[in-house]
Amino acid sequence: MDKKEIVEILASEDKNFIHDIFKSAYEVKTAKVGTKVYYRGIIEFSNICTKNCSYCGIRKSSTIARRYEMTDEEILNSAMFAYRNGYGSIVLQSGERSDDEFVGRVEKLLKRIKRITENNLGITLSLGEQTRETYSRWFRAGAHRYLLRIETSNPFLYGDIHPKDHSFERRISCLEDLKKTGYQVGTGVMIGIPGQKAEDLADDIMFFKTIDVDMLGMGPYLPSKGSPFEQRCEFIPERNYILALKMIAAARLYLEDINIASTTALQALSPEGREQGLKAGANVIMPNITPVEYRDSYLLYDNKPRADENKEDCLKCLEKRIELVGEDVGYNEWGDSPHFFKRLCGKRILESSAQTPVQNSQNNMV
Ligand code: 5AD
Ligand code: SF4
Repeated sequence: MDKKEIVEILASEDKNFIHDIFKSAYEVKTAKVGTKVYYRGIIEFSNICTKNCSYCGIRKSSTIARRYEMTDEEILNSAMFAYRNGYGSIVLQSGERSDDEFVGRVEKLLKRIKRITENNLGITLSLGEQTRETYSRWFRAGAHRYLLRIETSNPFLYGDIHPKDHSFERRISCLEDLKKTGYQVGTGVMIGIPGQKAEDLADDIMFFKTIDVDMLGMGPYLPSKGSPFEQRCEFIPERNYILALKMIAAARLYLEDINIASTTALQALSPEGREQGLKAGANVIMPNITPVEYRDSYLLYDNKPRADENKEDCLKCLEKRIELVGEDVGYNEWGDSPHFFKRLCGKRILESSAQTPVQNSQNNMV
């Protein structure tokens, strides 16, 4: 596909055409990554953030957000919950902080999680922009994937949705640093940001290929009460929902063998959002395993689902819903993207005598 064809998909309102696109994307997914769904249990361990992204409900200047920080014990218990229930991996996510105390705490937690799960639980981090040294410390401590959304690959739109002290260039250089450190790297965008055009989204998809990502986590933009962006433009939920599904399909068709998450924001717009995401080409689901008492406080946007998924019966019900789509859960598997291994092989050939950075102290899988 070229940009024109991607734009055609994103701009189309023709139901039959869209149906066919989803069908093709599903076929590509089946052929390139299979029909197993991998779980990443997400632990939103703190909503304290030093940044002020204009669209986000937990940005630093929000007076509505009730700030919290989970204790080490609560984080370890959540990780053990994931491990015991056969989730192959967790995601540790929080607002962005880069002070020494935070960096050191995350490093210690990573080591402890690896230890108590006998190196079996895969760990993805989603902790924002950090120095190369911090990325290395966390990698060495046991994290092996990192998610850092570019939010939009259009530098002007990026400038519009962030305050002046946020830098597009820095975000790009962080993505480069992550890759050099040896992480499997994921990025993503918000879909339907006020002012964003189908051309911008098509550019986003081409950008993902240019930077050669291993994973994608994209979701619809949703307004957040009290944020500078809340009143920016009329919000049409159905529009952003379909657009997000079309983005997943177009990304699967264009990038083929990467992991693509069917995100919580999709579920916020439709109770079946995540299953529809799987049908459009996604292969990863991130069940929220944050203790229920904190869920209402990690409100990036309004109407974020707070389903009580850490009850055994809800896990079963998620499994049933996945089976209804005709897929299985990859229990106890990391489910790394085939793309990452191909990327790694290419790198090994190029650097045949040099040591690859893709080995950390806590896991020997990669
Ligand atoms: N709508 C949708 N996604 C949002 N995020 C933050 N605010 C919103 C919003 N209003 C997403 C950003 C960020 C991730 C943690 O949450 O893409 O990278
Ligand atoms: Fe902080 Fe992330 Fe929200 Fe920006 S999007 S304000 S960095 S939590």
